[in-house]
Amino acid sequence: MSKIFVDACFGKDTPYTPVWMMRQAGRYLPEYMAVRKEAGNFLNLCHNPEKACEVTIQPIDIVGVDAAILFSDILVIPNEMGMELKFVTGEGPLFPSPIKDEADLDALIGGAKAADKLTYVYDTIKLLKEQLPKDKALIGFTGAPWTLATYMIEGEGTKTYNICKKMIYSNPDLLHKILRKVTDVVKLYMENQIKAGADVVQIFDSWAAAIEPGLYDEFSWKYMVEIAEYIKEKYPHIPVIMFPKGIPAFLDKVYGNFDVFGVDWGTPMALAKEKLGDKYVLQGNMEPCRLYSKEETTKCVEAIQEVMGSKRHIFNLGHGILPDVPVEHAKHFVSECQRVSKN
Ligand code: CP3
Repeated sequence: MSKIFVDACFGKDTPYTPVWMMRQAGRYLPEYMAVRKEAGNFLNLCHNPEKACEVTIQPIDIVGVDAAILFSDILVIPNEMGMELKFVTGEGPLFPSPIKDEADLDALIGGAKAADKLTYVYDTIKLLKEQLPKDKALIGFTGAPWTLATYMIEGEGTKTYNICKKMIYSNPDLLHKILRKVTDVVKLYMENQIKAGADVVQIFDSWAAAIEPGLYDEFSWKYMVEIAEYIKEKYPHIPVIMFPKGIPAFLDKVYGNFDVFGVDWGTPMALAKEKLGDKYVLQGNMEPCRLYSKEETTKCVEAIQEVMGSKRHIFNLGHGILPDVPVEHAKHFVSECQRVSKN
């Protein structure tokens, strides 16, 4: 059975423009909170294929999105490379022993040895292939090497990125060695997700904006492109979505073999279309906080539709949905996207 989401990723005509939301399986859903409570904590939930499968499907059933995104987290990768990981309630992720020098990096597990440890992710995907409706696509994902490296070096979320940035300007060789080791794991991790049954993969570079535009290719984009090209060469039927957040100054320089460019909410859709619309299908890009108002949501969906005109587009938010958004409003966003784009 053809999947509208996969067709749209390849720029084929579809009955309407499909829609999903970044971070659609999460705390704004009471049903998610119930399953997380049963699991005990967030990482237990990621490690439990039955429960991870259940929360992956929730937004399909409850909110009506056209694609499911695997329930996991980008940080399971450094965790399985050997870095201890904690999720502190209310404060986010924490690596108590971040990478300080080459010896710390050398101590980490690399290549297939690390990628093959993520069995719970592949088991979740296999279960999802049995349980997801056949017309819905399953999106696998990874963090971009740069975004993963920010956590591996800083140890936690950061506002200033000062430790990573110090490395960019004073020890770029070490940073490249970290990015190389992570890239090699991520390529195999993506391949394993595809072998387990992922229909599409997305690379999240959530912290792209921390790098000055002139250095973005060197420290992030080229590694993302390497991952995309590795996948496209071996699995040309699997669409690859790139989502670098907050880099409008880099739009003129975007290159590489991938299918969909994810537009963040700070980049006008018309600008992204002008620069990249011929080369890539565009995904996005409502400012997620518009979800607090149904009227503002409708206005924005209509404005995006006006620009994209039901062609070479996938509706999404311009970053993740926040935990205090009413479920009704998320449903409204999804049904409005499907309504305005109907052919
Ligand atoms: O619907 C989905 O998108 C499902 C799965 C998903 C999660 N994290 C679940 C999660 C995905 C795709 C991610 C990606 C992720 N994780 C990114 C890239 C996307 C983005 O939003 O920019 C990043 C930077 C992370 C790292 C991370 N994980 C942070 C900073 C946090 C804490 C902040 C927060 O949102 O709570 C997490 C935890 C996390 N990952 C939660 C969920 C549902 C919340 C955990 C909980 O309390 O239940």
